[in-house]
Amino acid sequence: MEELLRQINNYTEEINVFTANDAESLEQFRIRFLGVKGLVKAIAGEMKQVPPEEKKSFGQTLNAFKSLAEEKYNNEKQRIDAISGESADMPDISLPGIPLPSGSRHPVTLMRNRIVDIFQRLSFTVAEGPEIEDDWHNFTALNLDENHPARDMQDTFYLSTDPAILLRTHTSNVQIREMERQKPPIRIICPGRVYRNETISARSHCFFHQVEGLYIDENVSFADLKQTLYFFVKEMFGNDVSIRFRPSYFPFTEPSAEMDISCLLCKGDGCAVCKRTGWLEILGCGMVHPNVLQNCGIDPEKYTGFAFGMGVERPALLKYGITDIRLFSENDVRFLEQFSGV
Ligand code: PHE
Repeated sequence: MEELLRQINNYTEEINVFTANDAESLEQFRIRFLGVKGLVKAIAGEMKQVPPEEKKSFGQTLNAFKSLAEEKYNNEKQRIDAISGESADMPDISLPGIPLPSGSRHPVTLMRNRIVDIFQRLSFTVAEGPEIEDDWHNFTALNLDENHPARDMQDTFYLSTDPAILLRTHTSNVQIREMERQKPPIRIICPGRVYRNETISARSHCFFHQVEGLYIDENVSFADLKQTLYFFVKEMFGNDVSIRFRPSYFPFTEPSAEMDISCLLCKGDGCAVCKRTGWLEILGCGMVHPNVLQNCGIDPEKYTGFAFGMGVERPALLKYGITDIRLFSENDVRFLEQFSGV
């Protein structure tokens, strides 16, 4: 028994000074002291050598020895685990993150960006202006006097306290503001929201979006207008789409035209979407009226220019196969989330 106590003393010393270098040396420690064939078990196996009256106190010594080994093992394990990052309460930084649901762009924004991108490649820069506008910038400067009949085509919402303040009916107001602000050459594209006092239906709404363009310089001709829009259509709708210009009327352009593209669905054969004509109207355009240039302090003898304006919703309806324009403004997530990744 003396021999056993001496051994316990020695091992106690060994345990006290032990520190594990790594998981491997800690495991060696466990096997040596606490394993099935370890020292604690081995010494306990020698209990039969201990005289009966000493058994109790020897048992207590042995228990204390065992607890010491266990405690050392647990402490060292925590330390080693913390270093190697395997502890249960340490987050596992190698796990994949919690996925965040990603939002998506609104289809009108997607279409607007596509339109703007194409014109930016032709060196048009984006210009923006107010949605709440005065009569001058929305109508009068655009050759639409107070009593001009063409105002009827663009009825809008007025402030009851001041009818000279209104919601803009087109982004042409930005063109006026830019012509007042800078000297030619001017090459701008004006995206934005516009308003019209119209009955809401599947095909029209009291607010929608436009992209208008303006190019003013010396010697700008209708041929430049055609070529620019032709490039746009090819980039936007592909090479097999045809275009045609129809004479039209806008007070701020002379001559004026509507531009149609061959129907994307029936390729010109005639279907319900193109009302059996084979053509889809997508924009209005023309050479800027000399009166408009003059209103903005630009000499019409020296400068000419072209302008065009298109809606954003119409091509978005065509591109994404949407049949009701009201869906764009209902803010229904089930509709909107279909455009993620488009
Ligand atoms: N401003 C016109 C509209 O909103 C579109 C247009 C712009 C037509 C420029 C010709 C030239 O209807």
